[in-house]
Amino acid sequence: MSKDLATRLDLVKPSATLAMTALAADLKASGKTVYPFGVGQPDFQTPDYILAAVRDNLPSYSGYTPATGTVALKEAISESTLRDRGWEPKVDQITVGVGAKHVLFNLMMVLLNPGDEVIIPAPYWVSYPEQVRLFGGEPIFIDAPPSAGFRITPEQLKAALTPKTKAIILCSPSNPTGAAYTESQLKALVEVLADSDCYIIADEIYGELVYDGFQHVSLGKLAPEFSERLIVVDGVSKAYAMTGWRIGWATAPKAVTRGMAKLQGQSTTNPSAVAQAAATAAVLGPRDDVERMRQAFASRRKTMVDGLNAIEGISCEMPDGAFYAFPDVRGLYGIQHDGKPIETAKGVALWQLDACGVAAVAGEAFGAPGHIRFSYAASDELIREALGTLTEAVRTANR
Ligand SMILES: Cc1ncc(COP(=O)(O)O)c(C=O)c1O
Repeated sequence: MSKDLATRLDLVKPSATLAMTALAADLKASGKTVYPFGVGQPDFQTPDYILAAVRDNLPSYSGYTPATGTVALKEAISESTLRDRGWEPKVDQITVGVGAKHVLFNLMMVLLNPGDEVIIPAPYWVSYPEQVRLFGGEPIFIDAPPSAGFRITPEQLKAALTPKTKAIILCSPSNPTGAAYTESQLKALVEVLADSDCYIIADEIYGELVYDGFQHVSLGKLAPEFSERLIVVDGVSKAYAMTGWRIGWATAPKAVTRGMAKLQGQSTTNPSAVAQAAATAAVLGPRDDVERMRQAFASRRKTMVDGLNAIEGISCEMPDGAFYAFPDVRGLYGIQHDGKPIETAKGVALWQLDACGVAAVAGEAFGAPGHIRFSYAASDELIREALGTLTEAVRTANR
């Protein structure tokens, strides 16, 4: 009997964000001060009103729920999406999964045949291309450079579409850049997609986290005429500080929803019952906590971006949303680390972790060499302290 593992594993790279988190944790365990800007999760605790809603009912979550989520949660998603995003997902078109990452994974499994192309603007969230490859698909990247505000243009999109295009993934606001598309920019992209029959996957998990009056426009509201091929992905992880609860969902055409239900019935059975109840309370509850956290992120965003731009060799765009800054760090190349000059963003990320405990994820994993992703899901004080240490490390570095 062969002990070889499945060859499909060779198609996938491990998550770079989780790898940096593990590296930083090791360093911290060894007693060093570590500034945790690598991890993509809020540093807040899940708000009390959510905890209170489930705390006293724990025995009632003893059993299985329907495979794609409870009716109560789906109705809550529909209601809150109407309230927050201006369109009303139909309950029978919602699939709740174990986080948006799991939902996207299931979507790729449901949609892709070998050779199908999936258009992904780069920089991209690390999991998109890996999930596409895992199911035999081919990621087709469109370059969205900082000079274009990290956004793709309709012309680029038109040029990337082929008869093999099965889907496009649009993430707005974006991980890792924080860039978001305005209503007119989205409209222009969607107009191009009218000439194709591909699925449009809108990852709107950061939709609540926008700043300086930026208006997030959901594709569900903007492009109802695409409902036969539009899939909107969302979840409670980011806006409600609930990454550990693992609840995300997709609103999709009925056939896709049926496919996802079939898969979940043979894999996860259902997302955790208590987490679903907590997510139900989260999205239906008062908005004060979401707003409190959003305002904290807004302030940290300025602290982080202004602080990074004050460091010689680093240059950073002001993001519209999410909680990431994504500076160009090529000006730091040439610093000596381990007896060699740094030549890559990965080199910069390892050097700054070593030199001053600042943990952030190198851009190569996001399809953006030359950049580093700093998550500003940390207090203003911590960000200031870290950037002070980094400034000093850059000033005194050997070149
Ligand atoms: C763009 C994007 N989509 C989806 C997810 C998945 O979130 P979760 O699985 O926690 O719901 C993340 C998390 O980092 C993300 O950044």
